[in-house]
Formats: sequence, structure tokens, C-alpha cells
Amino acid sequence: MRIVFSATQTKVQPWLEAFRVALPQAQVQEWQPGAAPADYAVVWRPPQQLFDEQPRLKAIMNMGAGVDALLEMRTPPQAVIVRIDDGGMAVQMAEFVCHAVIRYFRELDVYERDVAQGTWSFRKPRRREEFPVGIMGLGVLGQRVAEAVAHFEFPLRGWSRTPRQVPGMRCFAGAEQFDEFLAGTRVLVCLLPLTPETEGIMNRRTLGRLMPQSYVINVARGAHLVEEDLVALLDDGHLAGATLDVFRTEPLPEGHPFWKHPKVTITPHTSARTLRDESVAQIAGKILALERGEPIAGVVDRNRGY
Ligand code: NAP
Ligand code: GLV
Repeated sequence: MRIVFSATQTKVQPWLEAFRVALPQAQVQEWQPGAAPADYAVVWRPPQQLFDEQPRLKAIMNMGAGVDALLEMRTPPQAVIVRIDDGGMAVQMAEFVCHAVIRYFRELDVYERDVAQGTWSFRKPRRREEFPVGIMGLGVLGQRVAEAVAHFEFPLRGWSRTPRQVPGMRCFAGAEQFDEFLAGTRVLVCLLPLTPETEGIMNRRTLGRLMPQSYVINVARGAHLVEEDLVALLDDGHLAGATLDVFRTEPLPEGHPFWKHPKVTITPHTSARTLRDESVAQIAGKILALERGEPIAGVVDRNRGY
């Protein structure tokens, strides 16, 4: 079995070594132009040339949960596309989102500013019933986040494409229930995949339907958000603030309004990182299962886009 590996933003050698340990029967190489035909490609944002030169791949193993960038490329049509499901990302996402929700709800940013000025001040306690948390996307990450947020006893709402039932959560589904979901949400969390249907889903109209003084947490993809609409709604006071981990252009360009906006907290696409040990174990396990002809989790539906 031959496996080619191609990933940007990571050191290649430790991945190759880990795959060679996990799959001793396989020949694992970093992809180079002209590489011999492989059975599997393990990739994160690879060059198009890889797929053009590897028409016989059985599967493309994406080293992340989101496959939006991969689905924009020309990939061999028979190759199964497989995403990482959880692989240690869900707990990271849960801690990141809980931190953002609590920081907003407990006004910790305001206390930080006060303390920096040497001020000892108290804010009136807030009622958590007035801060329903609405999660868009109830998949692997959205459900884990919901479970974590539930510990803090906020009212929970969730929205998905197809109807879901999540204990302790009021669930909404489909375009027809989207406005109702938004209207009762005070903290909006985006954990949707980026697809033609979800591109720009957070815009002036939809964010304008949230409860007054709402907070936006985008940890999915930058293109879910119309950035100038968010800024307008923050500036006119409808929205209280935002925590953004993902952006239309990454790294966030110099001079972008988010860098210095007093109501925006940014992080550099780091809310849930791909972890090497967990990912290698998961990908290797899936490759072995595919070789045995067994079904695996995380197979992407190319038509659905996730
Ligand atoms: P997932 O398991 O595929 O779940 C996707 C969820 O979104 C499902 O509940 C799905 O509905 C829902 N959905 C899809 N299209 C929809 C639509 N048009 N309307 C309403 N709901 C829709 O994905 P995941 O593993 O939770 O990951 C979600 C996304 O997080 C990834 O695609 C990736 O872009 C992003 N991500 C970001 C980071 C980061 O560091 N910032 C890290 C990892 C992942 P159904 O339940 O009906 O299918
Ligand atoms: C990261 O953004 C991922 O999709 O895994």
C-alpha cells in the first residue's frame, strides 16, 4: 500500500514517522511531483498537481474537519473523501466556546479593562436565562460544544439542516425554522461547514434578527460571516460583541477593522487544532478499515458539501 502525504502549515517529518509506525506495511512518502501512483493521500491544502498526477487514489484523508477547500479542487471522482471526526478537536472547541461565552456573560473583558486602570468595580450580576446560547451546526463539534455549555445552565438552542434531537436543547432545522432559531438567541455560535448554502449566512439580515445586545462566536469558517455587516451591527449597538477565530482572509490582513475593534476578540484560527497522535491513529485506523472493505465514519458527501 502506498500513501502520499502533503500538508501546508506543519512539519512533515514527524507525521511521516508517525504514519510509518502506525502502518508498517505501507510505503509512506511526502508527495513530490512525479511520485509513484498511491492508494491514499493524506492532505491539508495540497497543490492541485497532486490530484492531477494521482488519478487512482482510493481515498483522500483530510487532516481537518472542514473539507470546503478540498471540495473546491479537482479530485479523482472515485476517491472517497474522509474528514477528521473529532480526533481531539471537539474538546478543544468546547473549551474555546465555553471560554468565549463566559467571558461575555461574566463581562470579564470589562473587568480586565477596569483592573488595567486600577479600578475596583462591580457589575450587576446577569441572569443566565436571558442569555440563550444558539449553536448553528449540531454535528461532531456542535454537539460536543452543546454538552459543555449545558454545564453552565444557559438555555440552549440548536439549528441543523435535518431535524435533530439533543437532550436539554431546543432544536430547529432547515431554512424554514432559521428565523425562529435566531429570534430567541442571544449568543450565536457558528459551527457549520462552509457550503454554498452556508456561505455568508451571518449577515445584516440574519444577525439583525438576534436578540438585542447579542454576541457572535464564529469558530467555523470566515466566509460564513459578512464581515462589514458585523461591524455595522456592532457599531450601531445591536450586537454587543464578537469572538472570531476564522476570517475571510487568513492571516487577517494588516489594517483590517477587526484587529482594533473594541468589541471584537480575535484568535488566529486556533480554536480546535489538528492533533498529530490522535489524527494519525484515526486516519490509519480508517485506512485499514477501508482496506478490509469495512464502513468508516467521516466520509464526505460531495453533493451535500460536508
Ligand atoms: P459536521 O459533523 O459535519 O456537522 C455539521 C453540522 O452542520 C450538522 O449538524 C449539519 O446538519 C449542519 N449543517 C450543514 N449544512 C447546514 C445547513 N445548510 N443548514 C443548517 N445546518 C447545516 O461538522 P463538524 O465536525 O461539527 O465541524 C463543523 C465545522 O467546523 C467544519 O466544517 C469546519 O469548517 C469547522 N472547524 C473549525 C475549526 C477551527 O479551528 N476554527 C476546527 C475544526 C472544524 P445535519 O446534522 O442535518 O447534517
Ligand atoms: C480546521 O479548521 C478544520 O477544519 O479542521
